[in-house]
Amino acid sequence: MPESVIAVRDLKFSYDKAPILEKVNFSIEPGEFIGIFGPNGGGKTTLLKLLMGMLKPDHGDIELLGKEPHHTRGQIGYVPQVLRFDKDFPISVLEVVLMGCLSKLHWWGGFPKGTKEVAYEALQKVGLADFAKASFGTLSGGQAQRALIARAIVNHPKILLLDEPTASVDPVAEQEIHQLLAELNRSMTIVMVTHDLQSIIDKAKRLLCVHRQVTTMKAKEVCEHFALGLYHTPLSSKDHFTW
Ligand SMILES: Nc1ncnc2c1ncn2[C@@H]1O[C@H](COP(=O)(O)OP(=O)(O)OP(=O)(O)O)[C@@H](O)[C@H]1O
Ligand SMILES: [Mg+2]
Repeated sequence: MPESVIAVRDLKFSYDKAPILEKVNFSIEPGEFIGIFGPNGGGKTTLLKLLMGMLKPDHGDIELLGKEPHHTRGQIGYVPQVLRFDKDFPISVLEVVLMGCLSKLHWWGGFPKGTKEVAYEALQKVGLADFAKASFGTLSGGQAQRALIARAIVNHPKILLLDEPTASVDPVAEQEIHQLLAELNRSMTIVMVTHDLQSIIDKAKRLLCVHRQVTTMKAKEVCEHFALGLYHTPLSSKDHFTW
């Protein structure tokens, strides 16, 4: 049995009093492509923020690569949900990718030698090398998402977490992002939140349904589940984890 790259045990989290997530148990193995779905407000973004160590659980344990999230942040890439930004803000595509390298900045503010080349390589990987000097605000929605993926993979993470990277992009751009993620999945574990179940069912073998609790399902079970009605606990879940 390979070691889990993500292990969550008995997680509970609330912003105020009402629990957003509770009794959450699941694990993810190296190289998996996991889809996360669930209703609006179900806790998907919150779960990713907990995995990133941006929020702390009220109860339970989270381990990424065998350690607590704040120890492994440098090895995890994160593409947040819909980035709102001023289209006129003067930042180039290469500078957006370099934001993924801020932890490497020297105390006087300069990047170590070779950092720009690494950022440029990340842009090549996502097919945006020709746009390095372009203003980020001029990119199309699909290109902007690929630039944010370049920022998330610039440090060669072992795990890539994406929060709805195909929301509000056209079908061609969506297809390109799926193709890119399939390539990246050869060298990293991918966990992707999406509302587009049809396309994720083709790509991910397992899915997590997040609706206060987390239910692990195989793609086939998701189809059965949806035939029975939206977002209730599946009648026969064969893939629950026990700890
Ligand atoms: N910073 C916050 N403070 C208080 N409540 C919050 C905060 N962020 C999110 N919430 C609440 O927590 C719940 C879960 O939010 P979350 O963003 O995780 O849902 P989601 O599953 O990602 O939804 P969506 O599909 O709309 O992106 C929602 O009820 C939301 O209003
Ligand atoms: Mg969300």
